[in-house]
Parts: sequence; C-alpha cells; structure tokens
Amino acid sequence: MYPRVIIHRDKYHHNVEKIATLCAQHGITISVVTKVFCAEQPLIDVLNVCDVSYVADSRIANLQKMHTHLPRMLLRIPSMHEAETVVKVADISLNSEIETIRRLNDAAAKERVRHKIVLMMDVGDLREGLFFKDDVENTVQAILSLSHIELYGLGTNLTCYGGVIPDQESLGRLGDMVVMLKQKYQLELKMVSGGNSSHLYLLQEGQHPPFINHLRIGEAIVLGRETAYGKPMPDLYQDVFVLESDLIELKKKPSIPMGKIGMNAFGKTPQFEDYGLMDRGILAIGKQDVDYHELIPEDPTIRLIGSSSDHLIIDLTHAKASYKVGDILRFRLTYGSVLSLMTSRYVRKVYV
Ligand SMILES: Cc1ncc(COP(=O)(O)O)c(C=O)c1O
Repeated sequence: MYPRVIIHRDKYHHNVEKIATLCAQHGITISVVTKVFCAEQPLIDVLNVCDVSYVADSRIANLQKMHTHLPRMLLRIPSMHEAETVVKVADISLNSEIETIRRLNDAAAKERVRHKIVLMMDVGDLREGLFFKDDVENTVQAILSLSHIELYGLGTNLTCYGGVIPDQESLGRLGDMVVMLKQKYQLELKMVSGGNSSHLYLLQEGQHPPFINHLRIGEAIVLGRETAYGKPMPDLYQDVFVLESDLIELKKKPSIPMGKIGMNAFGKTPQFEDYGLMDRGILAIGKQDVDYHELIPEDPTIRLIGSSSDHLIIDLTHAKASYKVGDILRFRLTYGSVLSLMTSRYVRKVYV
C-alpha cells in the first residue's frame, strides 16, 4: 500500500495545455519529455489528447512501450549499436556523431524509411553536441550525402550539465549556425529546437529569439516551474506528483547513537549532533527509493534526519500535529525525487 506516489492526471493535463499554449503564442511547438515518469501509460494517455507535436524520451525502451499516435523523439544521442532499433522506434532522434548517423542511414535504408535527425550543437553547457564551427560544416556536408537521413533541424540543450542559462549570447551561437547553413547550403531547417524547461523564462520575459521554433519540455510540466531560476510558473500546478509514506515506528530516543561508532550500511562513518531526547519516527521508504534530501514535507514542522536502504528517520519533536504509528506523511517532490520514486518498483503509483 505505502509508500505511494499520487499522480494527478488532471493537473498534468492542465500543465501540458498551459505550456503548449504559451509556446504556441511564440510560434513554438513542443515535444513533451516523459522520462521522469518512465513514460507510464496513464500520462501518455493524457498526452494523446493534448495538442503537442512529439513525445520525447531518452530511453528507447520507453519509446518502444508507449501506446501513442504521436510521433516519437529520441532525446539521448543514440548508441551506434542500437541504430537498427532507433529507426524502427523513433520518428526523429537527436544526434551529434557522424559515424552513428551513418549507421542510422544504413539501418533506415534496410527499413526503407527516411530517418529524421536533429543535429545537436553544444553552445556551452558541455554535454552533447558539436562545438566547433568546422565540425558543424563537415558533419552537415557528410549528412547531406546520406540517402536515408533527413537533416530535419538543429538543436541545443542547456542547463542540464553545466547549468548554463539560455540567453541571447548562448542561443546566438545556435542562431549563427542556422544562418551559416542557410547561406552555405541553402538549407531550410524545419526545426530549430532551442532547449528545455530552462528556456521558458525567455518567453515570460519577452526575450525569446524568434528563430527557435521548438522546445523539449519535461520538468516545467511535471513540477510547474521554469528551470533557469527555479521559479514556479503562474497558473501551473506544482503538486502533480505527491509522495505518501507511512510511519512504522515512533519512539522517544536520544539523538546520538550509543557505543563505539564504526561504518554505517554505506561504508561511511556518520556524525551526529546532540539535541537531547527526540521524538523519532521511521517511514517505510529508503535510499533504494529516493534521496531524502529531495523530499519536501507538507508539514514544515517535521525534520528529515537520515536514511538507510529501506528506512527514513524523521524528527517529530517539534511537530505541530500529534502523530502516531500508521499515520501517512505527505511530501512535495523535486525533479530528482520524481525520477527515482517513479523508477523504484517498491513504490506504488496511484493515478487519480
Ligand atoms: C536533450 C534533452 N532535452 C530536453 C530535456 C527536458 O528537460 P526538462 O525536463 O528540463 O524540460 C532533457 C532532459 O530530460 C534532455 O535530455
């Protein structure tokens, strides 16, 4: 029964529509990113009735299992060894390596399809993408000679690894490439995919560069916030996903362990502060499910103090409510906690 994540389909639906409308007002279509909730079908069903252009995921297995009429976009640069599956499962994929693109071309030829790709530029975040202009030119030239690959667009990704915020300067580098390809190869790209949820603040502030006509959005829909500065977005729900976990023990105990301290279950030597006697509770959830630092208690008077594989220890000494064993505690989530809780098979998913 517990722990469980309550997933509000209506709130998710609301957030998708709001973001899609905001983007449409700026001439932007969106791919909705589904990886954080492991592309579970009840939320894919919501997307199936929304006005979005793609479902996007970084995992082939997720794209493979979903039931949708929407085109599928593979977000993570494919591995060379999975080219044959990629062209069967994804309608479009993000790419940066010419050797992999050649493999995709061969696989697409075998399938008698033309596989669309978005060529990724690294404009500073230092994850995937071509960095130097020469590299872009050489790669594009090579792609244009491939019979079963359509260079559908250019893209970039920011604020994922390096924390770089999209602005006129970083996105300007993508814009320069779009102009260069148009001038040099008369390439009319159908898609310029600007980025993820960190791009949305540019729309709110009226600073969106108009050459970008596509975004890939996950977190803003799931958590109702933009991710450049982490601000909640007006009119969006921040509680689409909520964790419920139950108290399995509640006792008065000291705040520091008694006896000689060695290693804990994770090979670390723990350190403790002495707060005297405490009301200590245990919730039936642990490191195997979630990092407790990523949980935000709905009751701000409780304190999360530590966890082991299957236990989360909490301090209820100053709690305003009076708790007892069996009570359910609720938590708001972060991107990291939604990701791990949805991935844990020990956590029930309840769609309401
Ligand atoms: C390439 C790419 N695009 C878009 C996204 C979506 O990012 P966000 O959840 O911040 O909108 C991700 C991450 O999930 C990604 O890896």
